[in-house]
This record gives sequence, C-alpha cells and structure tokens, in this order.
Amino acid sequence: MQKKMASQAYTSTAKALHWIIVALLIVQFVLAWTMPDIRRDTPVTTLISLHFSFGVLILLVAVLRLAWRISDGTPEPENGVPQWQTMLARIVHWLLYLLLFVLPILGWINASWRGMPVSFFGLFTMPKIMPNRTSGWAWTGDVHSFLAEYVLLTLVGLHVIAALYHHFIARDGVLRRMLPGIIAN
Ligand code: HEM
Ligand code: HEM
Repeated sequence: MQKKMASQAYTSTAKALHWIIVALLIVQFVLAWTMPDIRRDTPVTTLISLHFSFGVLILLVAVLRLAWRISDGTPEPENGVPQWQTMLARIVHWLLYLLLFVLPILGWINASWRGMPVSFFGLFTMPKIMPNRTSGWAWTGDVHSFLAEYVLLTLVGLHVIAALYHHFIARDGVLRRMLPGIIAN
C-alpha cells in the first residue's frame, strides 16, 4: 500500500472509496430517472426498491469513507496550487461529503413518511423513521430530489471541471493523484 510514504498521494483505500461512490452514484441516478414517479399510491416496484437499496449502500460507503478520511487524513495540497483553489476545493469536498449523508437520510425519511418499506437488497429492512404522513414532513421528498438533481450535480460538475482544468490546463498532478494505480512522487 502506498500509505503516507508520499504525503501528496491518496492511499489506494481512499481512491477505491472515491471511485466506488462515483460508480454507485451513476447507478443511483439511472435508477432515480427510470423508476416510476413516486406519488401517493405508487407501489414499491423493483426499480424503486433498488433506488432505496443503492441509496442505503451509498450511505454505508460514505460512513466508511468519512471514517477513513478522519483517521487517515488527506494528502498535502499539490505543489504550486494557489491557496484560493485549495480553499475552494476543500469547501466543495466538505459539501460533497455532507450531501452523501443528507441525501440518503432525507430519502429514507421520505420513504418512511410515505409508508414505503426500505429494504437493503432483500437482506434486511431499515427501521421506519416516522409514522405515515406525519404532518410537517412532506417537504422531504421535494428537497431530496432538488438536492440530488441540482445541488449535487452542480457541485460534481464544478469538481470535475476543476479536475480537468488541473490535468489539461494547469498540467499538474491533482487528477493523477486520485487515479487508480498511480503512485504520486
Ligand atoms: C445518494 C443517494 C441518493 C441519490 C443521489 C438519490 C437521488 C434521487 C433523485 C435524483 C430523485 C428524483 C427522481 C425523479 O423525480 O426523477 C429521487 C427521488 C426519491 N428518492 Fe432518492 N436518492 C438517493 C438515496 C435515496 C434513499 C436512501 C432513499 C430511501 C431510502 C431514497 C428515496 C427516494 C424517494 C422516496 C424519492 C421520491 C421523492 C419524491 O418525489 O417525493 N433516495 N432520489
Ligand atoms: C468523474 C468524476 C470525478 C473526478 C474526475 C474526480 C476527481 C477528484 C480528484 C482529482 C480529487 C483529488 C482532489 C485533490 O487532491 O485536491 C477528488 C477528491 C474528492 N472527490 Fe472527486 N472526482 C469525481 C467525482 C466525485 C464525486 C461524484 C464525488 C462525491 C459526490 C466526489 C467527491 C470527492 C471528495 C469528497 C474528494 C476529497 C477527498 C478528500 O480529500 O477527502 N468526487 N476527486
């Protein structure tokens, strides 16, 4: 493992967790956009159930990832990157981490509010968070969808543009140090 020996490298675990979440989010958006619109009497079809299961999986991987991040830290900023870019990247990264928790939890609250069971791939069922249609909680579905489709996708868009900028224009090692199989320095 390329652990800490190069303080400018991400460890293989950090990289794996990063790219697993990217892959899971792609699956999750495909499911979200192909599943039936969820209304008052919509049954929990296979696609909806898969959306719930993948969402819970993302939450679990996000917990692992944050625990790893807290215990293992993060590499030093790449040499030569201006401080304002490092600060902005840090803010975007923390907002992304925050969304990886807030989104699945809001989805889970909304599914509970709708009386829909949240099964984890048929292996176990997540606890129900509140009684059906508890007043004051109807907003959770709209906010969940809005945060996913507008806020998360905008931040990911900025994040990807920044990575491509570093690779192709600034020509530094910022993207390379997150790519699998590449050991920085
Ligand atoms: C990071 C994880 C998640 C992402 C990115 C995500 C994304 C989305 C998106 C984009 C929609 C809108 C679909 C549309 O209207 O076209 C949606 C709706 C929904 N999701 Fe998720 N979701 C996630 C996790 C979850 C989880 C864990 C659950 C439940 C356990 C869940 C339950 C729901 C429900 C109930 C709706 C319908 C909300 C409504 O229209 O009122 N989601 N999700
Ligand atoms: C094709 C898509 C993506 C690319 C090319 C990409 C690229 C990168 C790169 C190069 C870094 C390292 C930045 C640095 O060293 O300062 C990074 C870090 C990070 N990425 Fe991505 N990323 C992508 C998608 C995502 C997605 C979808 C998320 C989460 C929703 C995400 C969350 C993060 C976070 C939280 C970090 C900071 C890691 C840490 O230091 O703790 N990325 N990404």
